[in-house]
Amino acid sequence: MAILIAVLGTAGVVIPLLNSCSTTPTAVMVPLEIPGAHYVGNKACMDCHAGIVREFPVSPHARVHFENAAMVGETGCESCHGPGSKHIETGGNAKFIINPGTDPASCFQCHLDVQGEFNLPQHHPVIEGHMSCVQCHDPHGGDILKSKGGLAMARQNESCAQCHRDQTRPFVFEHEAMREGCTVCHNPHGSINRKMLVESDPNLCLRCHAQVQPPGSSGAILIGNVDHTPFLQAGTCWTAGCHTAIHGSNVDPLLRY
Ligand code: HEC
Ligand code: HEC
Ligand code: HEC
Ligand code: HEC
Ligand code: HEC
Ligand code: HEC
Ligand code: HEC
Repeated sequence: MAILIAVLGTAGVVIPLLNSCSTTPTAVMVPLEIPGAHYVGNKACMDCHAGIVREFPVSPHARVHFENAAMVGETGCESCHGPGSKHIETGGNAKFIINPGTDPASCFQCHLDVQGEFNLPQHHPVIEGHMSCVQCHDPHGGDILKSKGGLAMARQNESCAQCHRDQTRPFVFEHEAMREGCTVCHNPHGSINRKMLVESDPNLCLRCHAQVQPPGSSGAILIGNVDHTPFLQAGTCWTAGCHTAIHGSNVDPLLRY
């Protein structure tokens, strides 16, 4: 019988880092300000943005209330867009409304942990203004974890596919890990590891691929029935010469090229 010597990290596919981030934000926020404007509530947006107001109640953000007297009974639009009165008085002047599609500051009021992730050394260039939260999150719709205008099927990989074709195209030999979504290996906001990996060493892979030491063998460590002892001393599992075609391969079932 095989002896399991080490499965480092969590067994299964839940990544503690991301898991711990999915708690509801708890920050106490200061309402956004636009000089000369006050809060008016969602109904006031209805006249001109009926489509968004109608769609919005299914969004997780519709459950977020302001502890603000002017907002009692109303939820949400202005929690991201700021107080709307002056925008409305001016017939919709864009100067008097906040657009978090160009500046994520209003998202960070509540999602402080996410702001922290985008400040890690490896990150998508959102804070730099080259990308926006809405390229991966639909701010108004029911499925916030899909990109604005993205497809519902395989929603997460699909939103990455907009920009990362090489990793998301179909492969003859697919790596089944991809079915769990890109985030089993990457933190999409940011990470201390290169390529935004959730782990920097073989632990990334050993969560799913058990190391096995057969009885009687002196020191051989099998992964997928192949003795990996010499390989594991050489570097990570995706070092040159090893499983570099980690997202899938058209020629090699062992994902080496
Ligand atoms: C009287 C009509 C009217 C009402 C009411 C109104 N808007 Fe607008 N809104 C507009 C128009 C027109 C534009 C397009 C402005 C432009 O492109 O210059 C606009 C644009 C916007 C934009 C995009 C700004 C940008 O940077 O492009 C946002 C966000 C917005 N409105 C939010 C709201 C919110 C939130 C409310 C309710 C508090 C609201 N609007 C109420 C007419 C209105
Ligand atoms: C979670 C934050 C958030 C909430 C809450 C929110 N929005 Fe938005 N809204 C955004 C972001 C982000 C964009 C930028 C979208 C883009 O760039 O494609 C946006 C864009 C807009 C725009 C202009 C672009 C467009 O899609 O037409 C309008 C108008 C608008 N929102 C109205 C509203 C109204 C009305 C509500 C309430 C029913 C609302 N928003 C609630 C985040 C939010
Ligand atoms: C007023 C505070 C507030 C603001 C502003 C805000 N959020 Fe949220 N957001 C929340 C809360 C609270 C939840 C959890 C809602 C729930 O699950 O019921 C949430 C949930 C989310 C989720 C889904 C998390 C999940 O696990 O389903 C995403 C993604 C998200 N917000 C992105 C954004 C983006 C992008 C912006 C800016 C455009 C933004 N938020 C602005 C408070 C806020
Ligand atoms: C490159 C794509 C991408 C960008 C850009 C992005 N997100 Fe996300 N975000 C994701 C994915 C994918 C998940 C789901 C992670 C999971 O399933 O474990 C997520 C999860 C979240 C969550 C819920 C879990 C958590 O980490 O708290 C929040 C809140 C959130 N994002 C907010 C934001 C905000 C705010 C921005 C912009 C400042 C943003 N995201 C930009 C891809 C992105
Ligand atoms: C709107 C375009 C866009 C989307 C959507 C997007 N990315 Fe990116 N991605 C980028 C850009 C831009 C970079 C930075 C490239 C650079 O700095 O050279 C990047 C970098 C990366 C890197 C690191 C590459 C490196 O060379 O360091 C990884 C990994 C990555 N993205 C994964 C994802 C995942 C996973 C998703 C979906 C959750 C996603 N991306 C969605 C644009 C995007
Ligand atoms: C099984 C783990 C795993 C999964 C799942 C995964 N990746 Fe990766 N990805 C990696 C590793 C490992 C690297 C680093 C390769 C390297 O350093 O050369 C990487 C690198 C990348 C890069 C940088 C490529 C480059 O040439 O620098 C991008 C972009 C990327 N992944 C996007 C994605 C996207 C998009 C998805 C989902 C469709 C995804 N990854 C799913 C493990 C994974
Ligand atoms: C989310 C779980 C998961 C992660 C993480 C993961 N894999 Fe996989 N991998 C699988 C599954 C499932 C298969 C297909 C079934 C099997 O053979 O175990 C597979 C197959 C493979 C194969 C094809 C050979 C074979 O045994 O079928 C290689 C090579 C491989 N993975 C390498 C890696 C490497 C290297 C990493 C780390 C960068 C990694 N995997 C991370 C789940 C994962």
